[in-house]
Amino acid sequence: MLKVEHLFAGYDSKIVLKDISLQFHRGTVTALLGPNGSGKSTLLKAIDGLIKPDNGAIILDTMNIDAMTKNDIAQSIAYLPQSGNSYPSCNVFESILLGRKPYISFEPTKHDMEIVEKTINNFNIDSLAFRTINQLSGGEIQKVLIARAIVQEPEVLLLDEPINHLDIKNQIEILQIIRCYTINYNLITVIVFHDINRALQYADKFVVLKEGYVYSEGDSKIVNPEIMKGVYDIDLDCIEYKGRKLLFV
Ligand SMILES: Nc1ncnc2c1ncn2[C@@H]1O[C@H](COP(=O)(O)OP(=O)(O)OP(=O)(O)O)[C@@H](O)[C@H]1O
Ligand SMILES: [Mg+2]
Repeated sequence: MLKVEHLFAGYDSKIVLKDISLQFHRGTVTALLGPNGSGKSTLLKAIDGLIKPDNGAIILDTMNIDAMTKNDIAQSIAYLPQSGNSYPSCNVFESILLGRKPYISFEPTKHDMEIVEKTINNFNIDSLAFRTINQLSGGEIQKVLIARAIVQEPEVLLLDEPINHLDIKNQIEILQIIRCYTINYNLITVIVFHDINRALQYADKFVVLKEGYVYSEGDSKIVNPEIMKGVYDIDLDCIEYKGRKLLFV
């Protein structure tokens, strides 16, 4: 289990996260929702140890993230930042192989190569394997970056707006793959979404942040017009269609 306990964290003198306490369970996809600037990316960065808690703690099973080395964290947690990061100039295969870096001491083993091949196949990007990253579309790059996070064989998978550049078919395909990995490998998966309906479709648990606080958390019942009004200040309607809940303007 991943536990966030009374976490206060932010940048320099600016406290962004204020007394966050949450529990994330294995085999579960949690959607992190909330308006721009509410602290979603900051929370993922804190869980990945990239920013230190000013107060409180983040505990993975019995280990305090703050006390773990970078390499230990990389063997346990894979983090895909919000887009806008720089990409390596290598090809797709090599770029995904970089996800194995926390395990490689001298040169990649047969297992490293096999897991990369298998993941490329699962992500249906075999035809891109030997293209360089700068020859790919935004959506294709996003798939490669998610595949790289997967080959890291993490226990915790943190994805910040992973479907942003993807067309609707790729969104469904990738979220389905992430869900399968979460269940098959018993991962703790946390995904930042702006699309509430996509979150409802693929997540088991929901955390809604507002101004650095947890405004609400729970199962899909908390994703309702009243709570969404409270955080996004917008009036939504809700319908049930073919067993799915949909919120719309
Ligand atoms: N590197 C930084 N230095 C200082 N302040 C930052 C930094 N990164 C983010 N912030 C501030 O922290 C607050 C939370 O930002 P964060 O990126 O966590 O929001 P978010 O919920 O991910 O928003 P978005 O939906 O726009 O990605 C914002 O007020 C933002 O301006
Ligand atoms: Mg963000």
